[in-house]
This record gives sequence, structure tokens and C-alpha cells, in this order.
Amino acid sequence: MNRSVFAPGRVNLIGDHTDYAGGLALPIAIQLGTTVTFDFDDTLDTILFRSDSQEQAAEIKIDIDKSQVRQVEPSWARFVAATIALSDGIVGGTGAITSSLPIGSGLSSSASFAIALTMALGLDTDDLVGFAQEVEHLATGVPCGKLDQMAIVNGKQHCGVQIDFRDLSYTYVEIPDEIDIFIVESGQTRQLEHSNYGTRQESALKAISMLGDLRETSLDKVADLGNIELINICTHIISENERVIRFGEALSVKDFNSAGRLLTESHWSLSNFYRVSTPILDNLVERANLIKGVLGARLTGAGFGGSVVVLGEAGLDLQESLSEKVIKVLPSKGAALVN
Ligand code: GLA
Repeated sequence: MNRSVFAPGRVNLIGDHTDYAGGLALPIAIQLGTTVTFDFDDTLDTILFRSDSQEQAAEIKIDIDKSQVRQVEPSWARFVAATIALSDGIVGGTGAITSSLPIGSGLSSSASFAIALTMALGLDTDDLVGFAQEVEHLATGVPCGKLDQMAIVNGKQHCGVQIDFRDLSYTYVEIPDEIDIFIVESGQTRQLEHSNYGTRQESALKAISMLGDLRETSLDKVADLGNIELINICTHIISENERVIRFGEALSVKDFNSAGRLLTESHWSLSNFYRVSTPILDNLVERANLIKGVLGARLTGAGFGGSVVVLGEAGLDLQESLSEKVIKVLPSKGAALVN
């Protein structure tokens, strides 16, 4: 038996570093992604994957234990190892991975891979989002939230997915034809395990333990924290949640100038208050905003490098004005079986 799955990458339009704080975000799934094909063979006690972007194959015993996952080499094979270690009654076999997603560019190549892998291995889980998140935690040690997985699983053509991370409910927001969405690769690649992602999250969770649900907390109350780091963290999260709502509303009434302005405001909040931007990303956002037809720009995803998302008037040729690699992204459907 053979199974093939395509899982898209994602671009977060707005709402970063809000998912693990029970906040709001509005990502899209995109046309680029990961295809995983798997041939089941119950005579084998290993799972072997080859990837078109990696020299070394991943070969993992099907009885691998969770405690062994982080020692697996090559490091990309830890995703395969974690998926196997977290599942029961898995069958051996061989498979192939192809990806059209740039790695380390903030387009969720790893969550896309984890979801495609889980589905291709036929792991019947009623919580695909939670399972893929656990795979990532185990494989990398990065305590990521559920933003990437929610977008990748629930993406829809022509739509953004507005997610409420209190209960993982979501609604679709149509992306009107009058605007185009671009990704600009900053060229600064990063691995979240070597970033301050975890320490920012710790600060956010500490603030929540002191103030309670930040969705019920006003900016005035935040000042009571008396600690500038925590005040800044909360200032970003509270204002970012509001921007997600206003962005969704702006799109629905086709107020594209406001939508674009909210993106740029989000960037500076991530840069100044959450401190997850870099001089390269800041400079790219500044330059993008000077281009005629650009409505707004911001870092997308975790930050610390990666890509900038730009909202532009339909038909804009952004590549003409930037030397960095530009990709026009299309809001696309979520992960699905290919055969
Ligand atoms: C990464 C994580 C997500 C989310 C974003 C920031 O993509 O995987 O869970 O926290 O960063 O919004």
C-alpha cells in the first residue's frame, strides 16, 4: 500500500507570538509545501525516508523510544523519529520527501513536514494539530504553539484562517482579489532552537500567571507589573490581538490602507516591544513600505530572521524593486491526501 500527502507551508498575515498566549492570529496556507509519499512494508522493522533537499537519508527503527529522538542523525531525521516514537503500532516501510518550501525562512517548513509525515504514515489521530505540535516539541525542543499546524491543516483557497487560540475555533476571512500577498526572503535564515523564542514565551507565560487572561486585561493594568520586560511583552500581545480583529474587519470592508497599516504596526510592535526582529528585517520592512503599491509589511512567524510578508495592490511587481527573493503567495487549501 502506498500513500502520498501534500501539506502546505503557511504565512502568518498578522498575530505573531499570540498563539501560546491564548490570543488571536490570521494566517494563510500557501501553494508551496511538502509532499511525503510512503510505501508500507510490514516485513520491515525500520522506516526509511529520502529527501530531495538532504544528502543523508533518515532510517529509524519502528521501536525507537522518545528518549532517543534527540540523538538521531542527521538532525532532520528527528522529525521522523519523533513521529514514530509518539505513535502506537506503526508499520515499517520506505518513503520519499520533496519540498518546495525554503527551509529556515519562516514559512513553517517543519510543521508542514510533520503534518505530511503524520498523514502519510496513516497515523489516525483525531488531533492532528496537537500531535504534529508534539512531534515538533520532541524533535527540536522548541515549545512552539499551534499557529503553524492550525493554518496548515485548516487552510482554504482565497481565505485567511482567523484563529482563536483559547479554544482553537476559527473562521475564514476572504482575501479580496484587489490585494496580493508576497513573501520576501530576508536571506537571514534561523533555527528557532537557537533563538530567544523560548525565553520570550517564558516571559509571556509569567505575565499571564500574574495578570490572568491577557484578552481580559487592559494596557493600563499592565503597568502594574512594574517590570519593563513583562510590560513590553504584554503591550505587544494585547495590542496584537486587537490588530488581528481590526485587520479581519478591514479586509471584510475592503479598507486595504488600514489593513496594510496594521501589518506595519504589528512589525514595529514585534520589533520594539517583543524584540524578535533583526536590523535586516527592520530595514526590509522600511524599504518595502517605500515602494509604490505596497500597503504594509511585517516580519512573519517567529522572527529572528526568516521572511517579511508584504501586502500590495493587485498586480504589483514587487520583485522589480527588491533584490531579495520575492514569492507571490496564494491562500491555499490545507493538507490533503494526494492519492
Ligand atoms: C513559530 C511557532 C508558532 C508561533 C510563531 C509566532 O512559527 O511555531 O507556534 O508562536 O512562531 O507567532
